[in-house]
Amino acid sequence: MKSKITVVGAGNVGASVAQRLAERGYADIVLVDIVEGMPQGKALDILESGPVLGFDSNVTGSNTYEATANSDVVVITAGIARKPGMSRDDLLLTNQKIVGGVTQEIAKHSPNAIIIVVSNPLDAMAQMAYHVSKFPKNRVMGMAGVLDTARFRTFIAQELKVSVDDVQAYVLGGHGDTMVPLVRYTTVGGIPVSDLIAKERLDKIVQRARDGGAEIVALLKTGSAYYAPSAAVAQMVDAIILDQKRILPCSAYLEGEYGVKGAFVGVPVKLGKNGIEEIIKIKLMPDEQAALDKSAKSVEELIGVMNIR
Ligand code: APR
Repeated sequence: MKSKITVVGAGNVGASVAQRLAERGYADIVLVDIVEGMPQGKALDILESGPVLGFDSNVTGSNTYEATANSDVVVITAGIARKPGMSRDDLLLTNQKIVGGVTQEIAKHSPNAIIIVVSNPLDAMAQMAYHVSKFPKNRVMGMAGVLDTARFRTFIAQELKVSVDDVQAYVLGGHGDTMVPLVRYTTVGGIPVSDLIAKERLDKIVQRARDGGAEIVALLKTGSAYYAPSAAVAQMVDAIILDQKRILPCSAYLEGEYGVKGAFVGVPVKLGKNGIEEIIKIKLMPDEQAALDKSAKSVEELIGVMNIR
């Protein structure tokens, strides 16, 4: 039997996620949104690309949750997106309500699902979904690290004029201005990146990766990124549905790992059919740990504002 994946929020990110996953062919997809007709219309449109692209996934749209029952994976993209000049944190209280309501429905209809949160501010919204669903911590996670790392890898590959395939990197921490690109673990064809790019230039690339989301918001003017975010979600879903045991940076609930207790922060994890199967601990240098602490602190501040601990 095919797996079943629900994508909540059929906007830019949600519809792109649904399309990418439908094209995989390994699952039937249910697209949910509050706007009447819209998820149904987009689902039908995606479905009708099947004969051309050669996939048999069923894709349906809905404004309610009955059709989502017993999903294996649920991707939450519902919420408002940033406009120019807004930080992800400006979305906090609006998206808290939306993600809270969506999670309640998901927990009711798909009690065994693995939840991937995409709505921003990411780590805080993952915390909200964890809080409301009361799911075990391995079944709730946030998508940020794969995207932030992809942006960092893109800029390094551009700089060195090499294939992105040969650039390995890690971006940890919260999905915000305090994210922590780990230069020490960044390699190009196995060579430490600091041997290939001068520090000053590398610092600029690190900053561009941190501002990667804002750069796109400023260009689009009416919304935020969705092609790379949806690709990042699809990679995480692949790891879960295909039980790939991938090591990917994801926002995970920490209970003392990396010195963080009771908060979602981006760290490397092993992703497989049980969701987060392991939190991978790497030794950080004091400056890296300090940057991660700072990042965790800003996530904790948002958790405080949401008043859910
Ligand atoms: N239930 C279901 N869908 C909802 C709800 C709700 N309670 N509230 C809003 N939505 C839907 C909107 O109707 C809209 O179609 O969520 C969708 C969001 O789509 P976009 O506005 O296109 O936003 P998008 O770019 O997809 O970003 C969604 O992901 O990357 C983050 O910061 C981004 O928080 C934002 C989220």
